[in-house]
Amino acid sequence: TTFVIAVDGPSGSGKSSTARGVAQRLGLAYLDTGAMYRAMTWALLQRGTDLTDADAIARDAEDVVIVSGTDPSDPTIEADGTDVALPIRSSEVTGSVSLVAAVPHVRELLVQLQRSTIAAAEQGIVVEGRDIGSTVAPDATVKVFLVADAAARAARRTAELGGADAAATQEALARRDHIDSTRTSSPLAKAPDAVEIDGTHHTLEEVVDQVVALVEQ
Ligand code: CDP
Repeated sequence: TTFVIAVDGPSGSGKSSTARGVAQRLGLAYLDTGAMYRAMTWALLQRGTDLTDADAIARDAEDVVIVSGTDPSDPTIEADGTDVALPIRSSEVTGSVSLVAAVPHVRELLVQLQRSTIAAAEQGIVVEGRDIGSTVAPDATVKVFLVADAAARAARRTAELGGADAAATQEALARRDHIDSTRTSSPLAKAPDAVEIDGTHHTLEEVVDQVVALVEQ
């Protein structure tokens, strides 16, 4: 079985930078599962699927083809043959992704894809998301649950969005966290054997060091 490092946590906790940093440091592949849920959402919006209709989402999701590139220095994401790295970060996708991710059949489809990507990564892989340690890779060698306080997460996300309205960003994050942690199918939750790291008062490099230290333990 593949060597897996699972990095889970809420929005804006620094998962992506941490997971990529760890993969680069250790020469592992990298998979951003959030980008896959975003790509699915982009493709459904493109099709005009009614995102208030869970049955329509489940049906149309069957036809969407998602391809993730796992090089941590150049992660790529395609939906239906289109490079969607930029459009999946739009506020339209961000505002709808949690609705799509709450549909059990969407999760079945993407978890299957995630597991085959993991199985193909012979050198080992860092996988980031919400349910990696709990559901996608419960046998992961190292499980990290990365948190940061709400203000720090909103500040990070506001900066990423080029100085968007900080209060509105914090509100949108809180709304998404709520949907992500209360859905019935694999809600965001720390796996019992995950190590919680609070990045609020640490630099990216310090957090990467902490994860690498867990691997070398
Ligand atoms: O943008 P941010 O880093 O906050 O989130 P993301 O990792 O890009 O994930 C976007 C959304 O996808 C989350 O808010 C969840 O609704 C969903 N997601 C999920 O349900 N399960 C995962 N393993 C990863 C993401």
